[in-house]
Amino acid sequence: MIDLSMQYLGLKLSGPIVVASTPLSESIDNIRHMEDAGASAVVLTSLFEEQLALESRALDDDLSRGTDSFAESLGFLPDLEDYRMTHEIYLENLRKAREAVAIPIMASLNGATTGGWVRFARDMEQAGASAIELNTYALATDAGQTSSDLEKQLLDLVKSVCQAVKLPVSVKLSQSFTSIPNMSKQLQGAGAAGVVLFNRFYQPDFDIEALEVRPTLHFSTPSELLPRLHWAAILFGHLNIDIGITGGVHSAEDVLKCIMAGGNCAMMVSAIHIHGIDHIARVLSDMCYWLEKREYTSLAETRGCLSRRSVPDTSPFDRGNYIKTLSSYSLRQTVAAF
Ligand SMILES: Cc1cc2nc3c(=O)[nH]c(=O)nc-3n(C[C@H](O)[C@H](O)[C@H](O)COP(=O)(O)O)c2cc1C
Repeated sequence: MIDLSMQYLGLKLSGPIVVASTPLSESIDNIRHMEDAGASAVVLTSLFEEQLALESRALDDDLSRGTDSFAESLGFLPDLEDYRMTHEIYLENLRKAREAVAIPIMASLNGATTGGWVRFARDMEQAGASAIELNTYALATDAGQTSSDLEKQLLDLVKSVCQAVKLPVSVKLSQSFTSIPNMSKQLQGAGAAGVVLFNRFYQPDFDIEALEVRPTLHFSTPSELLPRLHWAAILFGHLNIDIGITGGVHSAEDVLKCIMAGGNCAMMVSAIHIHGIDHIARVLSDMCYWLEKREYTSLAETRGCLSRRSVPDTSPFDRGNYIKTLSSYSLRQTVAAF
């Protein structure tokens, strides 16, 4: 029997497959099903800074209207039952999930700026989260804002969340930093226990008939995994920070690649939406078969074996690969054309 356990954010995971943030985990039955299928942890859907800001603004408005006149205020004051706000529902789901399963449940906070909302990290800790994943999806649309402004904003945010809780904090990173290794190193300095590579960049699509720009969400394909593998392989062994990989993990081969690149776990969402929760069990079984055939006794022993640090020829990770790839393509094209 192969030992599939992995360490991630100081937690012992029973296996490498973590369910990344998805609305599927808003149902406790689904979370039970994920555990039964072999998921080793679940990241809950995100609580957004904007939701929390809206809630507190609504509460402030109602309360300040209430100060005009006491008699009048009785009519305006919010019925407390109506103020079972998003974050309370979130925390309740977190507590229920915690009670329902033995695997770690990680909460997800999604925001871009420091502020009062960061204190919800503490509420998540009290509600039983095993870790907090910080999703910092920020887009640079202001030409006056430099990349170092954005990096500082991110680091300040991470520091304030890490200071608010004792839990391990991971940061789900965008792929667009100029230096992923330097950013990861700075995040480690700010207190992060892990980086999650990478947030998907959800671009809106353009409808040229209706002259509208619309949000689109397509499920991933395994080809999206390659940049994640590349950066995990470069980070592995150089920093004291764990690596979660999300984006394009669909099959047993994908999970093995994540671990061999240096990941501590492989996170899955699209494949579960497409094939159902039991897909996790099939992937784990395929992976065990592959490992057993090659006489491995544990998955952990494969970790990082294809990282930049472990392979004899590092050129596939460097500029050499870029030159080789482009020149081999033009050669093939020339042969095909004549
Ligand atoms: C329907 C849907 C909802 C998602 N919601 C969140 C979210 O709330 N927070 C978050 O950090 N990621 C969210 N994600 C991104 C996933 O957690 C994951 O990182 C991404 O889908 C890439 O993994 P995949 O290739 O396995 O789908 C969502 C993805 C999908 C498909």
